[in-house]
Amino acid sequence: MSEKVIIFDTTLRDGEQSPGASMNAAEKVRLAMQLEKLGVDVIEAGFPAASEGDFDAVSQIASKLKKPRVAALARTAKSDLERAWGAVQNAASPRIHTFIATSDIHLQYKLRMSRDEVLAAAVEAVKYARSFTPDVEFSAEDGSRSDRDFLCRVFEAVIDAGATTVNLPDTVGYAIPSEFSELVAYVRQHTPNIAKAVFSVHCHNDLGLATANTLAAIAAGARQAEVTINGIGERAGNTSLEEVVMALHTRSNRMPLHTDIHTQQIVPSSRLVSMITGILVQPNKAVVGANAFAHEAGIHQDGVLKNPMTYEIMRPETVGLNRNRMVLGKHSGRHALRSHLKDLGYELSDEELNTVFTKFKQLADKKKHLVDEDLEVIISEGILQSADVFKLEYLQVTSGTTVLPMASVKLSINGRSVKGAGYGNGPIDSTFNTIVQLTGTESELLRFSVSALTGGADAQGEVTVRLRENGLVALGRGADPDIITAGAKAYINGLNRLEYLKRHPVKTSGDV
Ligand code: KIV
Ligand code: ZN
Repeated sequence: MSEKVIIFDTTLRDGEQSPGASMNAAEKVRLAMQLEKLGVDVIEAGFPAASEGDFDAVSQIASKLKKPRVAALARTAKSDLERAWGAVQNAASPRIHTFIATSDIHLQYKLRMSRDEVLAAAVEAVKYARSFTPDVEFSAEDGSRSDRDFLCRVFEAVIDAGATTVNLPDTVGYAIPSEFSELVAYVRQHTPNIAKAVFSVHCHNDLGLATANTLAAIAAGARQAEVTINGIGERAGNTSLEEVVMALHTRSNRMPLHTDIHTQQIVPSSRLVSMITGILVQPNKAVVGANAFAHEAGIHQDGVLKNPMTYEIMRPETVGLNRNRMVLGKHSGRHALRSHLKDLGYELSDEELNTVFTKFKQLADKKKHLVDEDLEVIISEGILQSADVFKLEYLQVTSGTTVLPMASVKLSINGRSVKGAGYGNGPIDSTFNTIVQLTGTESELLRFSVSALTGGADAQGEVTVRLRENGLVALGRGADPDIITAGAKAYINGLNRLEYLKRHPVKTSGDV
């Protein structure tokens, strides 16, 4: 059997640091359950010291998951480590992940600490974390721009203090593959006790090299890869899980290593992340983009029909892109719906099933065949967003060449119904103006985009918006067969995310 590469997923922590990508606790738990189904080894569920919301979400995930290790991030301060432990202590396999920067730039300008002080803080933090759990990871933030001998000193000291994983991040996405693999090889050679810990890497994608750097590091001996679904994350994002996993899977002739990822769960996981965060996947994205398996040129189509190996290096089915998916329609009953949702990972109570079934029938009246994406939207609106402050109850819009566009909207705000009407320069503008007026928010629309949720002329329209209010930014997403209604749902979803951010302010002292 080949050696294993541990897959550490940080979609819920570094991924959530993508601008505007906040998720509520129910959405985080849902995503964590999908990551468990995907077979990731470690889930970094959040940064509990950052906000009450993060603490709650990490605790819920820790209590719910059975198989993966659940990690919580903490700076080296005792209070952070205590919060991290408080949140993961009920996990079947808890991990504390502590970090401090090691590059001179960070030491001088951000931390204002000497190298000896950083080393002492790292050792203290690891020892304190070990007093809670035997599974402790240490990260040397900005490791790729750190003095390599200092990095080795820090790793040696934290391993002596009890760290079981040491992580070398390319925090600012500055490294290039040949340099990064040399650094990994150097650190492995010059850290005497390195064999006592798992060597991990964590790359950012500022130069589009995150996957290449991660694979170069794996070739040089790293055995844990820190990744996110769809590569979402701070700035240009993190290394994408699907790219690393499928590169190892497809090129095992050059890299005789394996992961425990169930590759058929890759596309469903990608869709879920995109749906929950509102961050759309670019069509040409490797492995999970809409065009990743589309063959446009006639000569390619001809080749694929004769033998897919002519132009396909992976089978779409291997990553869970099932072109013959089971569909449900208006004659499908409660039982079929329940069992299909179970396959998707949703175990619903009878009450939840009733809510979902009603919405399912309403949609099936408008759209002949419902596929997984449609069901995910129903679950998202009916269950995951059920605690939202703002809900759309009713929308009517008049517009055309000879009338002034006008929208009548009825909303529920914390369970209380309000209604009103407003004008705008088009149906979307009048709808958004009315929603803003009814909610009394000062939100500003920064971006608006429309696409189709699935293929087919009766596909639901999908609208994504980016909103800003008092310095907070949130994405919102909505889907509906009617595109104006989809826009209203997206705007309201964005407002709910802003409300969540207002209620769960993130502490900003010290970066992650
Ligand atoms: O990019 C980074 O350095 C991080 C660390 C906290 C691991 O996210
Ligand atoms: Zn990071």
